[in-house]
Amino acid sequence: MSDDTWLSINKARWEERVSIHTKSSLYDVEGFLSGRLSLGDQEIHDMGSVKGKSLLHLQCHFGLDTLSWARLGANVTGLDFSEEAIKQAKKLAEQAELEAEFICADVYKAPQIIQNQFDIIYTGIGAICWLPDINNWAKTIAQLLKADGKLFLIEIHPVEWIFGNGFDLAYDYFHGPEGLHLIESGTYTDGDQATINNDLVNWNHNLGKVITALVNAGLMIKRLDESDECPFMRWDFMEKAGNSRYKLPAEYKSIPLMYTLEAIKP
Ligand SMILES: C[S@@+](CC[C@H](N)C(=O)[O-])C[C@H]1O[C@@H](n2cnc3c(N)ncnc32)[C@H](O)[C@@H]1O
Repeated sequence: MSDDTWLSINKARWEERVSIHTKSSLYDVEGFLSGRLSLGDQEIHDMGSVKGKSLLHLQCHFGLDTLSWARLGANVTGLDFSEEAIKQAKKLAEQAELEAEFICADVYKAPQIIQNQFDIIYTGIGAICWLPDINNWAKTIAQLLKADGKLFLIEIHPVEWIFGNGFDLAYDYFHGPEGLHLIESGTYTDGDQATINNDLVNWNHNLGKVITALVNAGLMIKRLDESDECPFMRWDFMEKAGNSRYKLPAEYKSIPLMYTLEAIKP
């Protein structure tokens, strides 16, 4: 599949879903406007203070997490390839009276568009599966970080990714560079919502590939935590974990659902 094909398939899908997501209870924009942070408590704790730090959020969607970091004191920039997402992010920043810059661009083009470097790059929760080339992604991160700058990646675990909606083993853990071309209507916030652009192309980047790509790009891995909890109800039989996260019921074997990785640019 050519570069243009995966990009245009995925972009069409995301453009259509932004307006569904901004109204969804999962994203809870109302709650955010009345002071709620969209980030998890553990995530905020793990990140440490962001006060006064420059933070770039890659694949920021409509900016809820980006603006949550702004509320915690970071000088934020959000980047996403969806024009509708960036439009909504700018609107949300205005409504929340928060300072933020939002840029509409493909991740891989970011170093050509953004001249400055950042103290922190934050990304994840369903982000890197949209990118075909993990080595190029890692190089992009390295280019955009200041010396001593930190990558904070919180992502869906590649093991969670191989299970289908019925908790069946649905997808390969290892696959070729062409990725997986799927057709799925609706979206994760509102399953039964009628949608037109239902194709998607995804890549499941396993932990070995992500770490090797970052190391080859010159970053130093500081921490890798795997977790059996995730911030959304991936399967309807999941239980609340008590910290706005969800876990599998006790009678299920535990599997990794999310991971958090921190890397430093020496
Ligand atoms: C699930 S969201 C992840 C963001 C965040 N975790 C959230 O839920 O708001 C994935 C985002 O990646 C963006 N995206 C996908 N491929 C991209 C690319 N090549 N360049 C920039 N943004 C991209 C989509 O537009 C979407 O907003």
